[in-house]
Amino acid sequence: MKKIHIKTWGCQMNEYDSSIISKVLKKKLNYHITNNFKKADILILNTCSIREKAQEKIFHQLGRWKYLKKKNKEIIIAVGGCVSTQEKKKIFKRANFIDIIFGPKTIHRLPKMIKKLKKKKKKIINIKSNNLNKFKFFKYNTIKKVSSFISIMEGCNKCCSFCIVPYTRGKEISRFPKDILSEAKYLSKNGTKEIILLGQNVNSYKSKFSDGSICTFSKLIKLLSKIKKILRIRFTTSNPMEFSDDLIKTYKNTTKLVSYLHLPVQSGSNKILKKMRRSYNIKKYKEIIKKLIKIRPKIQITSDFIVGFPGESKKDFHKTLKLIDEINFDMSFSFIYSPRPKTPASRLLDETQLKEKKKRLYLLQKKINKNTNLFSKKMIGTYQKVLVEKKIYKNNKKYFFGKTYNNRTVIFKSSKNLIGKLIYVKIYKAHMQNLKGKI
Ligand code: SAH
Ligand code: F3S
Repeated sequence: MKKIHIKTWGCQMNEYDSSIISKVLKKKLNYHITNNFKKADILILNTCSIREKAQEKIFHQLGRWKYLKKKNKEIIIAVGGCVSTQEKKKIFKRANFIDIIFGPKTIHRLPKMIKKLKKKKKKIINIKSNNLNKFKFFKYNTIKKVSSFISIMEGCNKCCSFCIVPYTRGKEISRFPKDILSEAKYLSKNGTKEIILLGQNVNSYKSKFSDGSICTFSKLIKLLSKIKKILRIRFTTSNPMEFSDDLIKTYKNTTKLVSYLHLPVQSGSNKILKKMRRSYNIKKYKEIIKKLIKIRPKIQITSDFIVGFPGESKKDFHKTLKLIDEINFDMSFSFIYSPRPKTPASRLLDETQLKEKKKRLYLLQKKINKNTNLFSKKMIGTYQKVLVEKKIYKNNKKYFFGKTYNNRTVIFKSSKNLIGKLIYVKIYKAHMQNLKGKI
């Protein structure tokens, strides 16, 4: 039996795509998945190019696979994801042992590409697609999970000056609500209790019902919440540009929507936001949060930050620190700015030394970590409703693992199998990464 090994870098959307790839190859070519790359007949790399470091990791990874191909010419190596759409056939130049280059939207064509490669013995590049046919294959996904991803849209029309995504994932395309609903129903029949809606900008989601009427993101959430077996709904990533009042209201009317929001602000300085071409200002961002807190006083807010964007002065950076204090962000994904090819920001003059940028990142993360700890500690002694996702082993001891309504992970012991259940757990200990509780 032939085996495939898939290595995935990057965002949840890549994880979702990789799960489709593995299922499609299994169904169509009868391949089996292996975690051991040395035993694979096909090696697939699903890549990320959001920052230069992420992209370089891909080429290091390929370097590790090169010798396998030298030993056995029959091994097929395929590269997909955002580095493929960014670099295209230039990847062949840097790594001439690669056989196939595919894109995020052509993953479903992989079985055909593999067959063609075997027949014609010629390298294949297939990255272009203007449709979302890849999603037709969701039913091949037989992995039973309590918490499952559903991609609802792909691409981005915003063109923030630092971001490569609009170039790699293309223009926004939203899936039809009937397809998303049937995927959610399918998952719920197979044990899913929580769905995480995915997209580069989920709140830009806009599609049509069969009768031609418009389906917005908030409407979609309302419809999904009507599926009885789905107990919780989460989404990632939304942006402050199109966070409508209608979506804010959804937090009032749809209790299945969790009290947790990842809303990337990037910087606390209006000057920098303008240079980033983020079409909101801090006042607008604060207004969104204020409205949400009015509806859900205990909502946890997290953010992405870019530190050391070209032109960011010490004063600008301190505005970001001030905003962290004001909003009380719970956690963050924060990185030093990385210039990306062809993006407008890559042409801006950047005079800040790397040493200074690293210092700023350290200060920002220190501040946020303090908040994370504080929030966790505040939860000690409280009862939390936890959706139990899986069993885990820590120091040879068995625990159950789940998430609270505000997205904190909790581990606890139980003699009964509680996977898929919503239970009350009393928190008695808080670590940085998780909480410990008792049923
Ligand atoms: N659509 C989302 C973010 C998508 S990209 C939004 O509007 O915020 C995910 C995160 O990667 C971004 O929030 C940003 O913080 C980070 N990122 C993107 N490009 C980057 C770059 N060139 N350098 C550093 N970080 C970057
Ligand atoms: Fe990137 Fe901005 Fe879109 S960060 S994904 S261009 S909203």
